[in-house]
Amino acid sequence: MTQHIDFGSLPLNPFIDGKRIALSGDVVPTYDPASASVLCNVPVSDENLVADAVRSAKRALKGPWAKVTPAERSRMLFRVAQLIRHDAARLATLESLDSGKPLREAKGDIETSARYFEYYAGIADKLQGDTIPLGPDFVSFTLHEPVGVTAHIIPWNFPLVTTARGLAPALAAGCTAVVKPAEQTPLTALVLADILTEAGVPPGVVNVVCGPGDVTGASLVNHPDVAHVTFTGSVETGKSVMRAAAGHVASVTMELGGKSPVVVLADANLDEALAGTLKAAFMNAGQVCSAGSRLVIEKSCADDFLAKLKARIGDFTYGRGLDDPDIGPLVSDEQLQRVGNIVAQSRKSGAEVLIGGNVKRPANLAGWFHEPTVLLAHDRRNQAVQEEIFGPVLTVQIADDFDHACELAEDTPFGLVGGIYTKDVSKALRFSRHLSAGQVFINQYFAGGVETPFGGTKNSGFGREKGLEGLKAYYHVKTVTARL
Ligand code: NAI
Ligand code: MG
Repeated sequence: MTQHIDFGSLPLNPFIDGKRIALSGDVVPTYDPASASVLCNVPVSDENLVADAVRSAKRALKGPWAKVTPAERSRMLFRVAQLIRHDAARLATLESLDSGKPLREAKGDIETSARYFEYYAGIADKLQGDTIPLGPDFVSFTLHEPVGVTAHIIPWNFPLVTTARGLAPALAAGCTAVVKPAEQTPLTALVLADILTEAGVPPGVVNVVCGPGDVTGASLVNHPDVAHVTFTGSVETGKSVMRAAAGHVASVTMELGGKSPVVVLADANLDEALAGTLKAAFMNAGQVCSAGSRLVIEKSCADDFLAKLKARIGDFTYGRGLDDPDIGPLVSDEQLQRVGNIVAQSRKSGAEVLIGGNVKRPANLAGWFHEPTVLLAHDRRNQAVQEEIFGPVLTVQIADDFDHACELAEDTPFGLVGGIYTKDVSKALRFSRHLSAGQVFINQYFAGGVETPFGGTKNSGFGREKGLEGLKAYYHVKTVTARL
């Protein structure tokens, strides 16, 4: 199920106040990462256009959007979900082409995007405050009010699904939004603007601006009328976004990187643990913030497990995302270089290559591929253990026993996710308590869905998205107290 894309008719211009703004200035090319060829050139929104987008979102907040009842808001969001599903073939094709991700994963992303709108549609008319008992002479109650104009800075690894993850709860809570997709993968967010219009979302409620982070992104997060920034991306850029938001006291949600462990104990169902580890490490060629990029395995089962792991990886297919391979390309040449450099440095400082380790050139494809790679790290300070690589690279650490596994699992600057495979419920729950992380997966890596809160600790950031927790960033609680 792929669909022909007519690139000439794609909406590439910024979407502001319900209209496409024709631009003749700078453009940023977006590439097909499999062939390294340009798909299309996307106009850059400069500081003035970003200001127009924020103005339009601010006007809509107190204007048309405030007049829409929560029940109608809910119906609109349900319609968005329906329209995404209706357009799923085209959106998945576009996402796979623009990011390089395997088509089945792109289809999964599109369905999850629809689910976000559906899930938060269901709460839009149920967000209600409390009454607070102060005795006979007072009435006190709380109002849930939208925080205001929200900015959404989107990364390239999950373009539409990250947009939906922030936008759906923001709209459900009554906020308006300006979305800035990543320059490597702007296409599905641009198409989403048309879907929102078709669903009846009024002009100005959602605006989409494209361009480089230091131009378009920085103008947006520095804008004094932005009340909240939802950011997903690198730690360094996250810090710079926090500094910008501090300048006008905007709140932030920071979803930064990870170096998440998959702990496999000897008593686990090792076939399931193997399948789980492969998915954890190599989904989207490892370009996943919550990837299980570190296998921490109990010594007594390690030899056998690693032999099977290598055999399975040896059979992996490579290719264009649209051909649905096991491993697609990395999103950009820059990302390929970055992955190559970390692998090279880690090898120099003692990590042992068990399989892979090199740039890969599949036949007839000029794009940015890297072999799925497994590095055995003898030293826990090795770069491959401590740094997010964001490529198809799994680092292995051997643990003497459960306690040692817990210690190794914890010892990185990140705290996004942790997984454990074991039949021992006590150990699984002890691990869950022990690990600094926003979420723990027991016997199924990536378990959960749009309903389960998600976010980080330590360098992985703070704030929670998904689930009911994910709404909290988008409303303020106002208390009204009357003396009778
Ligand atoms: P990045 O953090 O620079 O980019 C993410 C988004 O932030 C993009 O939309 C970008 O245009 C925007 N941005 C960049 N500078 C900005 C600024 N000053 N103000 C506002 N917005 C700005 O990440 P990049 O360079 O694409 O990837 C580098 C590394 O970051 C990856 O290798 C990976 O380790 C990590 N990363 C983590 C992600 C996650 O899911 N947590 C997603 C993407 C990257
Ligand atoms: Mg692209």
